[in-house]
Amino acid sequence: MANDIDQSQITPQQYEILHGGGAEAAEIAKRRLSRRRFLRRSMLAVWGLSATSSVAGALCMLYPNLSSGTFGSIQPAGKKSDFKAALPHQFQLNQAGVYYIPVARTYIIHLAAHTNFLLSGTVLKEEQQSEWWIKDSDGSYWIALYQRRVHLGCTVPFRNDCNSFKCPCHGSHYNLDGEYLDGPAPRSLDRFQLSFNSDEVVVNTGILNYPSHPVAHPDATTRILAVPSVSCSAA
Ligand code: FES
Repeated sequence: MANDIDQSQITPQQYEILHGGGAEAAEIAKRRLSRRRFLRRSMLAVWGLSATSSVAGALCMLYPNLSSGTFGSIQPAGKKSDFKAALPHQFQLNQAGVYYIPVARTYIIHLAAHTNFLLSGTVLKEEQQSEWWIKDSDGSYWIALYQRRVHLGCTVPFRNDCNSFKCPCHGSHYNLDGEYLDGPAPRSLDRFQLSFNSDEVVVNTGILNYPSHPVAHPDATTRILAVPSVSCSAA
């Protein structure tokens, strides 16, 4: 029993009693064991809280902050009229077709109703649904692209000179609808849910890539928009 007790905390009187045995020694040992259990449980609780907050911090780095009142929740992005629709070759950042919304960390894409697509019919409709395109009542199309690159997390502006998104970190390249073009990225850009509240555009930055899954590298059967005709340098 003496080995289970923290000897350094024992007063000389207690030491004598313990080594003498008897009921008094048993009572002291019992009290000290209870204190050791309490301390051990307290340390485990502190460790558990620390581990939980570390995991939560890591998740916040990887994914939108689902608990904040700003990014990670529903964000009004502006009036529909703030986002002029454009054909792909007309896109100019914050002027036509593509608009950056800092509070939502999102690019709003607004494609004109008479945009030409590589697919048609049911195939086009299904692919647009799976890539979270929203068709408006005037026939135009909306997409909310998450600004964060899907390779190693760099943030990349839309490049007017490339008519597309090009990441300066390792060169991943995405079409103006977020579809993968080339580079090391494992998939196309991620998307948020976009909806309308009357004439207001709303982005739900707490929901990523629903309703199906992240958009994979497109192929000839799934690519929606033609590859930009301009070349894009690394700079
Ligand atoms: S983080 Fe953008 S290509 Fe690697």
